[in-house]
Amino acid sequence: MVARITPVSGMLPENSETVLLTMPPDKSILHRLLFLGSLTKSKIQIPIVSPSVISDDVIATVLALESLGVPVDVASDAIELHGVGLRGYRAPTHAINCANSGTTARLLMGLLAGQPFNSTLTGDASLSSRPMKRLANLLAEMNAIIATDPRGTLPLEIAGQKLHGAELTLPLASAQMKSAVLLAGLFADGPTAVREPAHSRDHTERMMSAFGFGIEQEEEIQIWPEVTPALADEIVYNVPGDFSCAAFLIAAAILLRRRLVISGVSLNPSRTRFLDILTLMGIELEAEHITEEWNEPRGDLTIYGDRVSILAPFHIDEDDVPLLIDELPMLMVLALFADGESAIHGASELRVKESDRLGVAAKQFRGFGVEIEEMEDGIVIQGVPNRMLRNTPIIHEGDHRMLMAFSIAVLFCERPTEIEGAEAAQVSYPDFFQHLQRLCGRERVEIIEA
Ligand code: S3P
Repeated sequence: MVARITPVSGMLPENSETVLLTMPPDKSILHRLLFLGSLTKSKIQIPIVSPSVISDDVIATVLALESLGVPVDVASDAIELHGVGLRGYRAPTHAINCANSGTTARLLMGLLAGQPFNSTLTGDASLSSRPMKRLANLLAEMNAIIATDPRGTLPLEIAGQKLHGAELTLPLASAQMKSAVLLAGLFADGPTAVREPAHSRDHTERMMSAFGFGIEQEEEIQIWPEVTPALADEIVYNVPGDFSCAAFLIAAAILLRRRLVISGVSLNPSRTRFLDILTLMGIELEAEHITEEWNEPRGDLTIYGDRVSILAPFHIDEDDVPLLIDELPMLMVLALFADGESAIHGASELRVKESDRLGVAAKQFRGFGVEIEEMEDGIVIQGVPNRMLRNTPIIHEGDHRMLMAFSIAVLFCERPTEIEGAEAAQVSYPDFFQHLQRLCGRERVEIIEA
């Protein structure tokens, strides 16, 4: 699939007509809901507006659960899951393919390490180049036996074992790693304590506690195994909109000077540091109608893109990084248009995401004619406040977030750009190009099916 993006010319006039959007269900919450829900004895109803909003990453988790014998059905208006209880998984008859989804693979490592059967995890080329050894080593402290490829990557052979409770310190702030050991802790022979070097997204902890698993949180997180949640036989879980998807359209609204309202979006504080950075850049925004369901806050977010003129540059350091890790591709693109020098430090994890996001961005930005300095753990970007980027081929390496960030950047090139591999947006945000059309007009975003 090719996306043909026609640029807007330079600074746009103010347009005060508000665009209203709803994001796909939050991917991080949905993965956890499917996995943790499968360990309950409840029927879980997850309303959706249409199956087309479900991303490929979430489908990878649905298929993984099916191969473990968990009944899960993606119907026209809901995903329906039947929990099988803590000891209800069936041995898979084939390797479980996690496709492009790091969360699926890493959470499964935690879930499957303590099962009374063996399993194999595979993935696509991108996922098969990402580090798995560091999590395998951490789980080994609980007696897990997980063999990686010699490069420390997928495919993984998980030899199901009796796990021991342990006191663990994560080697880095990673929600995937943290969640994997918390899930493994449910199958251990004693309590597990987990410390993280910095706070990362906390959906697993919130959901475990909302469902009634054995979890307690102070300075460290404690997990007690074998606690079956006393949930109702049937529950409904409304998943808020995905904040990481919203970040792309928020940024587009700012650059296009449009007012945007995103309703029902997740406002979990461990995800929203992006908004603090936008505020520092001089952008007005407002969160309203905030409610909480199943411990997860959500609300309506208004971005006053129509009131923006100059974007102040920003500085991000390692304390911010875990709280906006998935928003960094978009923030790097926003920095292209800031009035001065922006810098990101302490973000070496970006190098092992769906692509080497620092390397891919640096190469692309040089192509756009922007002055940048690439460091091992970050990047310094000299903004071009006149918003004139040079035309150059777009190389996103199949990484959904780089694709979406670059698709917004090229709205400020001199001439139209054709972006190949645009189907990668399906990995997390199937409606991305349609939503972008809503902001900048159908004629500027054309999708050419291959
Ligand atoms: C995720 C955690 C993050 C993030 C990823 C989703 C999750 O990874 O980049 O897209 O759902 O737990 P790490 O926390 O492992 O860096």
